[in-house]
Amino acid sequence: KRIVVLISGSGSNLQAIIDAIESGRIHGQIVQVISNKADAYGLVRAANAGIPTCHIDHKAYASREEFDEEMRRRIDSQQADLVVLAGFMRILSSAFVEHYSGRMLNIHPSLLPKYKGLHTHQRALAAGDCEHGCTVHFVTEELDGGPLLVQAIVPIIDKDDELSLQKRVHAREHIAYPLAIEWICADRVRFEANDIYLNDELL
Ligand code: GRF
Repeated sequence: KRIVVLISGSGSNLQAIIDAIESGRIHGQIVQVISNKADAYGLVRAANAGIPTCHIDHKAYASREEFDEEMRRRIDSQQADLVVLAGFMRILSSAFVEHYSGRMLNIHPSLLPKYKGLHTHQRALAAGDCEHGCTVHFVTEELDGGPLLVQAIVPIIDKDDELSLQKRVHAREHIAYPLAIEWICADRVRFEANDIYLNDELL
């Protein structure tokens, strides 16, 4: 499958996907990496792997819809089968989300439906939770609200602070995301009319 990855920052999840493709754990190819930030380190990672990159500055567009429309044009010109959000820090318009329905994944650093939005590690600590984690999900209209595909759980330990917890979750993200992407690439999972099918069976 042809994959386009959208990033805004460091791109460690992008790196995990690149590594999984190179080692044959994902049967797909990243045809383009798009960043809304010119200085995103993920662009360097992509270039190092020989993947075409593209910077689309959201500030250069009058509205969210226009920015999204430009991204849609670029993604579709690559004939992408799958759009992967990997630390892409922009909210997407409903037209964009609708266009890629069933073809767009996100990874979120919490055990959804807990802690949608930002500062998830801090919030899990403040709540006194004993576990935390990450979730790969299909993207739908509701922010961090689409159907869940893979979750990885980590324990929260006494001496954890935001950084140590974030690091432990991040390490799991790098396992969970390639796994979910391979399920899609191998046609084991599909999302249709708000339902997830695994190996052709409704979940
Ligand atoms: C990750 O924590 C991911 O869950 C969130 O943004 C972060 C991206 O990290 N959506 P990286 O750029 O992949 O290192």
